[in-house]
Amino acid sequence: MRDEAFSPQAFNAQTQKLRSAVQQGESLSTRRSGPLGQIFFCDGCCCGRSEKGFPPLPREMIKERWKSLKLNGTIQLTISGCLGPCDLANVFYLLGSDGVGQWFGGLSDPWHYETLIHWASECQQAGELLPIPAMLNAHRFTRFDSVPIAPQLCSLGDRKLHETA
Ligand code: FES
Repeated sequence: MRDEAFSPQAFNAQTQKLRSAVQQGESLSTRRSGPLGQIFFCDGCCCGRSEKGFPPLPREMIKERWKSLKLNGTIQLTISGCLGPCDLANVFYLLGSDGVGQWFGGLSDPWHYETLIHWASECQQAGELLPIPAMLNAHRFTRFDSVPIAPQLCSLGDRKLHETA
């Protein structure tokens, strides 16, 4: 990679504006906040890798249905690389506009995906983020079990994280 790619003077106007905002301590916000949520279907190193014996991800079918039903304005579709919990392939993650995320794994049947397409369509009609259908509840999991360490309990105490020992 060429070093000049990291020259701030070469960045586009959007990046220049963001850099300036961050440097001045302004909070960032996106104007792309229309959807009720965003769904991430994992298509990484395990999920969807039928050549490795994992169930296929019907990627093109999902994309075509999402497009034909115009669902992206309601539930933004993202087909992603590895999301992390490969041991639960096939995985998807739903992030609601309220910031609450939900994880699901072990998808293996076409009806799983049909159910999600139908659910997204119902969200579109209702104009609200509806619960994921209960028939997928057995696929729910918690991504991070541990409770975040409160700063006052952290063994680093008052040390800044970037300080070296
Ligand atoms: S490949 Fe899907 S979680 Fe890693």
